[in-house]
Amino acid sequence: MGDEDTLYTITEADLDSGLRGVPVGTCRTSYVDPIEGVHYVGYPVGDLANLEEEDVIYLLMHKRLPTGEESDAFRAELAHRAEEIPTGALRVLESLTPGSGHPMDWLAIGIMALGAADTNTRRPGSSRADAMNLIARMPELMARLFLLRGGKPEELKPRKPELGLVENFVHMLGVEGDEAKRMERMLRFFFILHMDHGGGNLSTFSGKAVASGRASVYASIASAMNALSGPLHGRANQACLEFVQRIGTSDPDEIEAFVRSELAARRPIYGFGHGVLRAEDPRARLLIELGEEICPDDENFRTVTALREVVPPILKEIPKISNPYPNVDLASGSLLHSVGFRKPDYYTTFFGWARVAGICAQILDERSAREGRGTPIYRPKYIPREQPHQRLE
Ligand code: MLT
Repeated sequence: MGDEDTLYTITEADLDSGLRGVPVGTCRTSYVDPIEGVHYVGYPVGDLANLEEEDVIYLLMHKRLPTGEESDAFRAELAHRAEEIPTGALRVLESLTPGSGHPMDWLAIGIMALGAADTNTRRPGSSRADAMNLIARMPELMARLFLLRGGKPEELKPRKPELGLVENFVHMLGVEGDEAKRMERMLRFFFILHMDHGGGNLSTFSGKAVASGRASVYASIASAMNALSGPLHGRANQACLEFVQRIGTSDPDEIEAFVRSELAARRPIYGFGHGVLRAEDPRARLLIELGEEICPDDENFRTVTALREVVPPILKEIPKISNPYPNVDLASGSLLHSVGFRKPDYYTTFFGWARVAGICAQILDERSAREGRGTPIYRPKYIPREQPHQRLE
């Protein structure tokens, strides 16, 4: 077999493999090169990391960077939509016990509540409006989630969406001055790096799968957030900082001993490896470079930079490990911690907040595919096993 249309030949080895490496669709927003890492509409992510977050969202949605005028109009639209947030819907979060569940549970609940209150979402063709409403309202959902779950709702400041997505979030938390500037610098960088990562990462794939049945954008994104909440996916950034804090040293010899003991106990080494990448994730390198700028002497960050050197040679000793190199989670938690976000279980909500933009862009692409007919409902084939033909007596 093999003609010019053959992209891939499925074999038995592909079954129950998590579709690893199996082409199932097309993606116009980003591509993950196994060596060079993620590119947003052809731009290496490092080229975009210091832009304004709204301009990168524009790129993912329109497949080109905005002109100055387009950028201003896009921000103004987001600010207007943010002002119209149905805050009553978020009172559902007040019914939850502070500290209960995981922050990612609160995030999915909040997104569904915003969807239930968005009267626009039931109208045919509302996908872009729903996506823009959700992207615009995520900062306030995040701020309310942080303060309500932390038992400090009275600290919420009135929204200022004209500040921009990240700055408005930091403002609503009530953070000011230099601390706010450090948070904004780090969060904006983190936000851009986490917006998109090809079409097949679990949260994006899950969101598009739900959207393929023409569920609302809100329901699709909430599903994606639930996929992201898994420890093998988005929640790895929380687990990675907890892993770094357990190590508690930057001494290479002590780290080697710790890592080898973890491997011997068959426990995961967080912050390394990836399903697609076969070299160091450029997002890891970029976050470490940022760390050298904003928190070079932070003890967690010093452990991270030591892990970056010590771990790959150890993992290379293990034949079945195809990628012994750092991934995006290695440094992200230490940087979030260094700018004042001290609770690792909130870190995945930042990942989710950023990824909302990329998944929305990909859902809109799939809904306009095939001359507007949209991508068909996802319906892959499963091969029957242990199902002999039987009949009731
Ligand atoms: C992501 O950014 O989604 C993660 O690196 C996981 C993935 O790409 O599968």
